[in-house]
Amino acid sequence: MDPRLLTPAALVLLLGGCSGADSDLPPKYREVAVPEALLQTPEAGLRGRALFLEHCALCHGETADGRGVRKNLSSRPADLTDPLWRERTSPRRIYFVIREGVHGTAMAGWKILDESETWDLVAYVMSVADRSP
Ligand code: HEC
Repeated sequence: MDPRLLTPAALVLLLGGCSGADSDLPPKYREVAVPEALLQTPEAGLRGRALFLEHCALCHGETADGRGVRKNLSSRPADLTDPLWRERTSPRRIYFVIREGVHGTAMAGWKILDESETWDLVAYVMSVADRSP
């Protein structure tokens, strides 16, 4: 369809409304229920930060900017504070990446963490990106 035929309201619905960022996730993750209320609580972010420092900071850096002490990785860890990255992602996608990793990169899946720990990490990762200037 020619996008010029769409009213601005329809475009907003198309681009923002239908969780476009999640449409290419595997079905299991596309349909996972996002605990929105939990993600908003400071406690989840704080627990997530502790987990992040323990498991993730080595590569992603203590402030999640992608500058960890671990060097010589085949691809650079994502800068999770980057507002552009944040715009393209979603809580479901972050959850998916933490569970399954990114194939072919040093980013392994973290199935050793349980679901609630994973959501705490999602809360933390979202909070660092939201703190963009
Ligand atoms: C051994 C190093 C390493 C560790 C440890 C690690 N990561 Fe990663 N991570 C990476 C790399 C490398 C990438 C970039 C992959 C790519 O090229 O997209 C990445 C990418 C990501 C992404 C972004 C993927 C995307 O959608 O673009 C997220 C979110 C992420 N990591 C979260 C975590 C969390 C949370 C932990 C801890 C539980 C963690 N990582 C631990 C190396 C690591």
